[in-house]
Amino acid sequence: MDIKVSASLLGADLSEPGAEAVRAKNSGADWIHYDVMDGKFVENISFGSEIQKAIVKKDKFFMDTHLMVSRPDKQLEFFIKSGSDLITFHIESESDADHTVNILHRAGLDAGIALKPSTPAEYVYPFLEKIELVLVMTVEPGYGGQGFLNYTLPKIKQIREKADELRPSLMIEVDGGINSETAPLVKKAGADVLVSGSYLFGAENMREAIQKLKA
Ligand code: DX5
Ligand code: ZN
Repeated sequence: MDIKVSASLLGADLSEPGAEAVRAKNSGADWIHYDVMDGKFVENISFGSEIQKAIVKKDKFFMDTHLMVSRPDKQLEFFIKSGSDLITFHIESESDADHTVNILHRAGLDAGIALKPSTPAEYVYPFLEKIELVLVMTVEPGYGGQGFLNYTLPKIKQIREKADELRPSLMIEVDGGINSETAPLVKKAGADVLVSGSYLFGAENMREAIQKLKA
C-alpha cells in the first residue's frame, strides 16, 4: 500500500507557517494538512483562508484542508479560492453532506468526510461511493499533541472493508496522536494517509520521522 504522510501545520512553528510547510515538503511530506477551527464546532480558533493563500505562494503543495467548522458549506468558497486541493468537513457539522460534496466536486476538488472518534462508521456509508477520502479522527478534534485513542482502530478496519466493497480507491486518513508507535497500528487497520503534527514538527530529524511513519 502506498502510504502518504500529511504534515499538520498546527504542530509547526506558527511564527513562520510558510517556511514550515516548505520544510515539511522538503523532508518528504506528501501533503500539508491545514486545520481550520472556527471556535464553534470546536472551542479553539486556528487559521483561515488568508494565511493559506500566503502559504501556497511559497511553493507547490498538495493542500489537505480539514474544516472543523459548523457550517462548512458557507466557508468552502474561501478555501477553494485559497488553494486547497482536497477539503474534508465533518459529518457532525450542520451542513448537508451531499450538497457540500457537490460544491467541492463542481469546483474540481477532492472531497473528504471526517468522523469524530465516537461517531459510528455507518454515518459515512451513504457517501462512500462519491467521496475520495474518509478522515477518522483518532483524538477529539480541537487540539494538537493529544494521545491516540485506541478504540478508533476497529472503525478504521470497518470503513476499509466497506470501501473495498463499494469504492476500493477510497483513501482513509487518520488524524491525531500519530507517531512511530501508533503508525503501524493504523496502517494495519487500513489507513493510508497519516496526519502528523507534534511528532513531525517536534522531531530532531523530520525526514527520518516521515520515513518511520511510512516504513
Ligand atoms: C486536531 C487536528 C490535528 C492535529 C494533529 O484537531 O485535526 O490535525 O494537528 O496533531 P498531532 O499529530 O499533534 O496529534
Ligand atoms: Zn486535522
